[in-house]
Amino acid sequence: MLKVSVLVSGGGTNLQAIIDRVADGKITNTEIVKVISNKKGAYALERAQKRNIPALALSKKDFGDSDEWENRLIEELDGAGTDLIVLAGFLAILSEKFTKHYENRIINIHPSLIPSFCGAGYYGLKVHEEALKKGVKVTGATVHYVNEGIDSGKIISQKAVYVQDGDTPETLQRRVMEQAEWILLPQAIDDIANNRI
Ligand code: GAR
Repeated sequence: MLKVSVLVSGGGTNLQAIIDRVADGKITNTEIVKVISNKKGAYALERAQKRNIPALALSKKDFGDSDEWENRLIEELDGAGTDLIVLAGFLAILSEKFTKHYENRIINIHPSLIPSFCGAGYYGLKVHEEALKKGVKVTGATVHYVNEGIDSGKIISQKAVYVQDGDTPETLQRRVMEQAEWILLPQAIDDIANNRI
């Protein structure tokens, strides 16, 4: 059994997709052992609690500095026996110390086709705003390993999604989630759990 911990910051629709695919058997050999949000009151925490998955909020603000915050994160993750950390809409930056501690054991979903619209400042709706501003006709999502850089780790999988006339950042975000993110991220976890990657 691959023990997975999911880090979140917001609504948690990607977390929900993972929970649902474990429940319906599309992700096998996997147990979600912990969900941690860096934002108190994130709806993702409720999604976890509804399925009896241990969930908690650890806000950087409640710690002396980032280092103390990360130490507590590591304590929680290691305490749960985490094999793989999944960043599912986790919008805080992790230090090199943290990413080295879990080398090749952290994956992230990003809502564009990396190397487009990624790096510092590109997160959430902002990514789709920039894609529409640029006028690209195709965008998508990427699952990648997390290293010390921002969105710079090895790419695991990508899926393209068409931009449509009249798209707003919100409609585009929704289509990228439905057609790419909610499929790619569970698939990557299943592939890792079953030693296909
Ligand atoms: C998702 O679109 C995810 O790809 C994005 O935030 C959203 C979270 O939604 N992540 C990033 O932008 C990371 N740089 P969710 O909370 O409903 O899963």
